[in-house]
Amino acid sequence: HLPTTITILGKEYPTDDYTNIPDSILSRLAPSPTLPYTSNHPLALLRDQIEASIGPNYTPIQATSPVVSTELNFDDLGIAADHPGRSPTDTYYVNRDTCLRTHTSAHEVQTFRNKHERWLLTADVYRRDEIDASHYPIFHQVEGAAIFAHEDYAPGGKVERECIEMERKLAGANFEIEDVVGLSEAGGYQSHHDPREAALAVRHLKATLNGLALDLFGERHAFDAAQKGGGSEPLRVRWIPAFFPFTSPSYEVEVWFRGKWLEILGSGVVQQKTLDKAGVPDRLGWAFGLGLERIAMVLYSIPDIRLFWTKDPRFLGQFASAPTNQVSAAGGKAPSTKASKPKLLTFKPYSKYPPCYKDVSFWLPQERKFHENDLFEIVRDRVGDLVEDVVKIDDFVHPKTKKQSLCYRINYRSMDRSLENEEVNQLHSDVLNRLVDQLAIEIR
Ligand code: PHE
Repeated sequence: HLPTTITILGKEYPTDDYTNIPDSILSRLAPSPTLPYTSNHPLALLRDQIEASIGPNYTPIQATSPVVSTELNFDDLGIAADHPGRSPTDTYYVNRDTCLRTHTSAHEVQTFRNKHERWLLTADVYRRDEIDASHYPIFHQVEGAAIFAHEDYAPGGKVERECIEMERKLAGANFEIEDVVGLSEAGGYQSHHDPREAALAVRHLKATLNGLALDLFGERHAFDAAQKGGGSEPLRVRWIPAFFPFTSPSYEVEVWFRGKWLEILGSGVVQQKTLDKAGVPDRLGWAFGLGLERIAMVLYSIPDIRLFWTKDPRFLGQFASAPTNQVSAAGGKAPSTKASKPKLLTFKPYSKYPPCYKDVSFWLPQERKFHENDLFEIVRDRVGDLVEDVVKIDDFVHPKTKKQSLCYRINYRSMDRSLENEEVNQLHSDVLNRLVDQLAIEIR
């Protein structure tokens, strides 16, 4: 029943008993990742923040096609043939030798081979997984790495100087690092590494990623604490032992955020086998990988991972920097949040139920001043939370009478049910009556 070939992004591949990519995934494959490069998209804001934090020494790289060999995705990284992640229950296979990358680490070998020594690569990654608010078969990762020549590890050399510089910045921050991982729990140094050099690589890794955690979460954490009147609780970060076949020692980093430990990344000292494969056996260094969606969901309070895929302007508009003249039912003018820094953006949930637009067009009275906030207040007072927004759509002055006419569009929409026509008609007619009574306007 299965066709003998499958065409992906213009290339034909033979199929076999491993082939398991459904059309729903095939139709969404692109030659390069899109969401983290879409302007005003929260994943792009977060990628920008990460690139800014890690700094200009690290080359930003946009990955290409998600179709990779199983050699790059698994074998070159020491992921054994019987590793559960390789099973077709967990991975999308084009065929036995080719899959959709399951992590950005699939590009470590190529990127090192291309002589990049410090880099940050962003890609869409694919995993067969459970369905819930925080899992989606397509998500995005950023992989970062830094490798150095042995001479850079000399006492007082480049690596040590950079560590001291980064640690100095961290020492001045309101920041608490829990770092009690035993070396053996984390997998130990690789036997062929000079332990002094490996220790310095770990120190460089920790200083870099502690700085990243502070840049991503520090301001948000301080702002939340201040809102609660909690003063200056430090941002807490902890390092816990981990296991990855392609790093040793290996660590996961967690941040204490809004009452929970949040795992933000996996990291470690790159296995020498990987660097040998990449043709840079004389280098030693570290790598990390993080998932963009989970971090963006917490940082920006995005409740459902599917929202990243919506084209709804009610979602994307909230991550745009340009203010609009809408008034939101949630209270307050929208522009104040939009003008704030991306880091402190908080998503305001909107309704899944259909909108119902009703316009009100009217002549202003000539004898008294009109302020649109009075109109908004009347609408809110009568309609309450069943109004989503009110937008001015027309404004003109009659050339003869000099009378001014305005038109506002009211969007009636509930957060939790579909509104009946009759109910909206009643609300709208009450609003019109109140506007006439209280603002002395003349409905057109
Ligand atoms: N690739 C790992 C994952 O997806 C993360 C990782 C990257 C760990 C680099 C160590 C080094 O979970």
